[in-house]
Amino acid sequence: MRFEDQVLFVTGGASGIGLATARRVVAEGGRAALVDLDLAKAEAAAAELPGCIGLAANVADEAAVAAAVAATVERLGGIDLVVAAAGHAEFGPIAEWDTARFNRMMEVHVGGTFHVCKHTLPILKARGSGSIVTIASTAAFTANPKNAPYGAAKAAIAGLTRQLSLEALPEVRVNCVAPGRTITGMTTPLMLARGGDMAEGERIFVQGIPMKRMASPDELAATICFFLSDDASFVTGQTLLADGGETIV
Ligand SMILES: NC(=O)c1ccc[n+]([C@@H]2O[C@H](COP(=O)([O-])OP(=O)(O)OC[C@H]3O[C@@H](n4cnc5c(N)ncnc54)[C@H](O)[C@@H]3O)[C@@H](O)[C@H]2O)c1
Repeated sequence: MRFEDQVLFVTGGASGIGLATARRVVAEGGRAALVDLDLAKAEAAAAELPGCIGLAANVADEAAVAAAVAATVERLGGIDLVVAAAGHAEFGPIAEWDTARFNRMMEVHVGGTFHVCKHTLPILKARGSGSIVTIASTAAFTANPKNAPYGAAKAAIAGLTRQLSLEALPEVRVNCVAPGRTITGMTTPLMLARGGDMAEGERIFVQGIPMKRMASPDELAATICFFLSDDASFVTGQTLLADGGETIV
């Protein structure tokens, strides 16, 4: 029960890694605000989790993030734990990216992480302790075909985390988890498009992964919850790759 009486603010909370993290925090005694573009999905997910709420916000919109933070404090009584997991995957050769599409990638991933950190950090600092986890990707560290804008956005998140962690001290720790390939709402359509079915999609996706399988969202949640919890009480500014060995080869 590492999160007894603690409140998690998680973006991208209606699906995948964000939702799995909320489930894990609730299983260990906490409550969560599931913040997502998709309000209906966030509310439906929250209804399954005792004491949790669903909220709508586009993380690229600073006012919307500020409003979701305020609503969480009002309805759940505060914020102790933060996970910035909202994101979308888009690939293609650089020639196919116009500035608006590139900026959207940056605004959601880097801007969204910045907005979440900016508006939750003062609350955690005032409380005297807390933990923020940002979400990068192996794409921040390795090169994949037709993946430059997403990889750049994820590398920026790891950099933002390292810089911000100093400013957040001494009260708050800020760390980053970089997932490898994980079966979620983001990857399922890509796997189906590439493979025709999930089994063939996974066979294609695990090429180059030494563990020869993809992760479950629960495995990423376990890694994120390490950083969220006092198990990581002397760890800040770090990025931990949970990738089945993808980046060691
Ligand atoms: N699944 C993977 O293999 C993988 C690998 C590396 C990194 N990641 C990262 O993990 C994070 C979570 O992704 P996931 O795999 O759980 O995907 P997912 O699609 O299952 O969940 C992402 C959630 O974010 C929400 N979202 C998207 N854009 C948003 C916005 N602008 N504002 C608010 N909410 C928004 C979506 O509605 C969705 O519910 C993302 O940042 C993603 O880039 C995923």
